[in-house]
Amino acid sequence: MKILIINGPNLNMLGIREPDIYGKKTYSDLVELIESHAKSINIDVECFQSNHEGYIVDKIQQAYGNTDGIVINPGAYTHTSVAILDALKSVGIPSVEVHISDVDSREEFRKTSYVSLYCFKRITGKGFDGYLEAINEIATLK
Ligand code: DQA
Repeated sequence: MKILIINGPNLNMLGIREPDIYGKKTYSDLVELIESHAKSINIDVECFQSNHEGYIVDKIQQAYGNTDGIVINPGAYTHTSVAILDALKSVGIPSVEVHISDVDSREEFRKTSYVSLYCFKRITGKGFDGYLEAINEIATLK
């Protein structure tokens, strides 16, 4: 089973950006955690991060036919991007939405999520562990 992990804008700044909200661990720490978890349950993962909406759309399209699941934290594009929602719908790959912070208890604009109209599950406010839970959810689809 192959799972693609997509992180959107500013998630490469983990550890530096608003550590009171997102914690002190870095994006590399996140990738290491995801890769070691995936290995322990015998799943292939690819971690991808981009600050650019179109690159995220391209990556989702490229997953068509070769990927069993997508874990996506679209960052701020969660609240704005119909293009990312449409890309997920286009490829039809089972997907889980993850947010490190508890988006629903923050500003009003963070309560809108376009990808949630497609994703079969949404995990928020569980920090890095949310990504592992999302991988486990997809693994149960085997
Ligand atoms: C985020 C929440 C978004 O509102 C924000 O724009 C992010 C990160 C999270 O993981 O909590 O960049 O998706």
